[in-house]
Amino acid sequence: MTIVPVDPRLMGREVKRIVFTERQIADRVEALGSEIAAAYPDGELLALGLLKGSFMFTADLVRHIPRPLQVDFIVAGSYGADTVSSGNVRLLYDPETNLEGKHVLLVEDIVDSGRTMQKLVELLELRRPRSLQICALLHKHIAEHLEHPVRFVGFDAPTEFLVGYGLDHAENFRHVPYIASLA
Ligand code: PRP
Repeated sequence: MTIVPVDPRLMGREVKRIVFTERQIADRVEALGSEIAAAYPDGELLALGLLKGSFMFTADLVRHIPRPLQVDFIVAGSYGADTVSSGNVRLLYDPETNLEGKHVLLVEDIVDSGRTMQKLVELLELRRPRSLQICALLHKHIAEHLEHPVRFVGFDAPTEFLVGYGLDHAENFRHVPYIASLA
């Protein structure tokens, strides 16, 4: 069943359902922050948010990691212009922060095919971080291209087209504060 939402942020698009509410996201992000703090008892920690999708998640998550850390962002793009990522990932914005010797936590909104994360891990490992882990708010568990484990997962996600809380459809809906499945 589809519903026509009254939320004007959805521009009249029908959504199948709200998959994760604002409250659910806030609670889970807070718990993730505690998990992350506990997992890094020492050393320098760098939260590296992958734009654009993780802008909201990164901002919320770092506020719940009660330990010293640095924040930077990374922008990656695929050579192909397809809706499915091609795997030819390259850096469009390279973090200014030196990664060498730091615990690097790659913060991602969603792991889908896993191509983006796989390539980024390969690229960033060359910079000799002390450790490199992935934190994904959403994980579809269909990522056959990702060899690296996703160390921190917010939610197991359904294989539906999700928008909101950073996730877009044609650049819209990123500002929606919950996660919905588009009809
Ligand atoms: C989306 C999403 C992830 C990636 C996941 O980014 O934010 O980064 O795709 O897909 P994958 O696991 O199949 O590689 P997108 O390229 O749409 O850019 P955006 O973050 O700017 O929305």
